[in-house]
Amino acid sequence: MNKIGIIVNPLSHTLSPNIHNSAIQHFDLNISFEKWELKKTELERFFLNAKDNNIVGGCITVPHKENVLKYFDFYDDSVKRIGAANWFKIEDDRILGFNTDFIGFEKSIPESALNNLNELNCVVFGSGGSAKAVVEALSLKKAKNICIINRTFTKAIEIANKYRNSRITSLNLDSIESIKNKLIKADLIVNTTSVGMSSGPDPDGNLVLGYELKTNVIGIDLVYSPNKTPFFKKISEFGGQAINGIDMLIYQAQAGFEILTGENCPFEIMKSALILD
Ligand code: ATR
Repeated sequence: MNKIGIIVNPLSHTLSPNIHNSAIQHFDLNISFEKWELKKTELERFFLNAKDNNIVGGCITVPHKENVLKYFDFYDDSVKRIGAANWFKIEDDRILGFNTDFIGFEKSIPESALNNLNELNCVVFGSGGSAKAVVEALSLKKAKNICIINRTFTKAIEIANKYRNSRITSLNLDSIESIKNKLIKADLIVNTTSVGMSSGPDPDGNLVLGYELKTNVIGIDLVYSPNKTPFFKKISEFGGQAINGIDMLIYQAQAGFEILTGENCPFEIMKSALILD
């Protein structure tokens, strides 16, 4: 039987198996879904043996979205632009890499905002693979400006520099006064860090804590466990529209599942597989 699965470490809280098993059942496919908890040093052997192990593809998540790139024979354009992959497919003897995170993120932006991004001030917290996909989606949609804020400042600078565009800037997470000035004008704030994640290093943390926000701000937290993170609650308290990472998780999964199987699984089928807290 052919296998698909998820490359992740640690395994603890991933919802991807539920999502993809529901899609496999929906189409009655003869495929099994596995979980591959791999260290960085185990990736090379995994990809070398993948075809012999009947693996036809899978998704990639924290912390390997960038680590996997050197094992691919071909990248989709999206991977080249973003510098991270969240899906791979094995076709003939080649390993192909794709990025569907930016599609998932774009689809999770409320339509009213998506249609007016050229008028919106955007702030993105984080500078990992997810942040790169978010910045790419916002940039493609011509956001008015994008400020990338990260604890490791060099990583934020690196993403901003890639675009060579004065609308895309960066700040150090320690620059309290500058962040204050950005956040008070922000129309869309995205948290791509693991701060606030129940199984992460800082489950009670909130990167917008103590800052004044616009009352009509839109806040998207890529974290989905818990359902309502401290960031999510703060956006709601200010009267803003808070969105968690479930929609993006499903939309990116939908696009990836279609790349592997050719089947377009309905959003509601994938969502119904999730028990949310
Ligand atoms: P992903 O692939 O989901 O983007 P990642 O590459 O591990 O995951 O990136 C995680 C992001 O969360 C990084 O920007 C990280 O900041 P650093 O670049 O400084 O490591 C950010 N992050 C994680 N824990 C954090 C914390 N406690 N405070 C602030 N930022 C944090």
